[in-house]
Amino acid sequence: MIVLLAQVNRPNMLNPAASEAHRLADVGWLLFAMAAAVAILVFTLIAVGLFRRGDAADAEVGPGSPQRDHRFIMIGGLVLPVVILTVVAVATITTVIALRQEKPHELAIEVRGVQWFWRVHYSGTDVDSANEVRMAVDRPVVITLKSDDVIHSFWVPSMAGKLDVIPGQTNVLRFTPTKVGRFRGECAEFCGLQHANMAFDVVVMKGPDFDRWLSGRQKEPAAPATDQILAGRQVFGSLSCSGCHTVTGVSDGTRGPDLSDFGGRRTLGAGVATNTPAHLAQWVRNAPRMKPGVNMPPIALTDRQVSDLVAYLESLS
Ligand code: CUA
Repeated sequence: MIVLLAQVNRPNMLNPAASEAHRLADVGWLLFAMAAAVAILVFTLIAVGLFRRGDAADAEVGPGSPQRDHRFIMIGGLVLPVVILTVVAVATITTVIALRQEKPHELAIEVRGVQWFWRVHYSGTDVDSANEVRMAVDRPVVITLKSDDVIHSFWVPSMAGKLDVIPGQTNVLRFTPTKVGRFRGECAEFCGLQHANMAFDVVVMKGPDFDRWLSGRQKEPAAPATDQILAGRQVFGSLSCSGCHTVTGVSDGTRGPDLSDFGGRRTLGAGVATNTPAHLAQWVRNAPRMKPGVNMPPIALTDRQVSDLVAYLESLS
């Protein structure tokens, strides 16, 4: 519950929480400072031009002094742009190279974009999740990005730059989170009706907490703690839910998102609503009403079935 209610940091490129985002923010500030300096210079020259027109200074030097004009054009039109563009090129090229650098002991995670959610797989384990990518602070991460359908784009502004997720292609994103917390990411490439509701969270945990979580996810899931949760599991297994969703040890559907740790997630429907029992009850009855276009059909359920199912799904972590 603590994880569920934990505050999510708003996506903000200027509030970096990973080494790569820091570098990008630094380049961003450098470009801003240079652009601001050029703007101030140009506005000053315009002001000088406006106020000096026809005054005594021009009369002395002569308005069309070829030597002065030539020097002005050489400096303003050639030297200055060459210096500025060289600085920009060096800053961006070195940053791009640094961002792609492989690091030792990377945590490998595979993320697949699907209309309209994210599949998450922790490489080298049988741990799957959806719409939530967990990692450890100060431990380098390598995320391989693939798409099951159309072009999406994986973007967590606090962590790293945006990277397209393209069918038939594997793109690789590397970064090292430097702050513990929950950071919102989104799909940043228009991918259909629910593009806006294809959000996810990056959850950066303390190293030992992450290790405990990952090894906990690899153990046999706990038996239902209450009769209601047990009843909910039976509803889940007897209805169409289990045909589309995987819950470790219970079902192996792959069409929809993996629900094995659903109860610990902050949102449902890839960010369409906060994960509360009330929202989940609305979702299982009629998902398309909350997220038009979603593949999950409305399901005819009794009130009892809904409350049992909600209790079961919220117990998964
Ligand atoms: Cu996926 Cu936009």
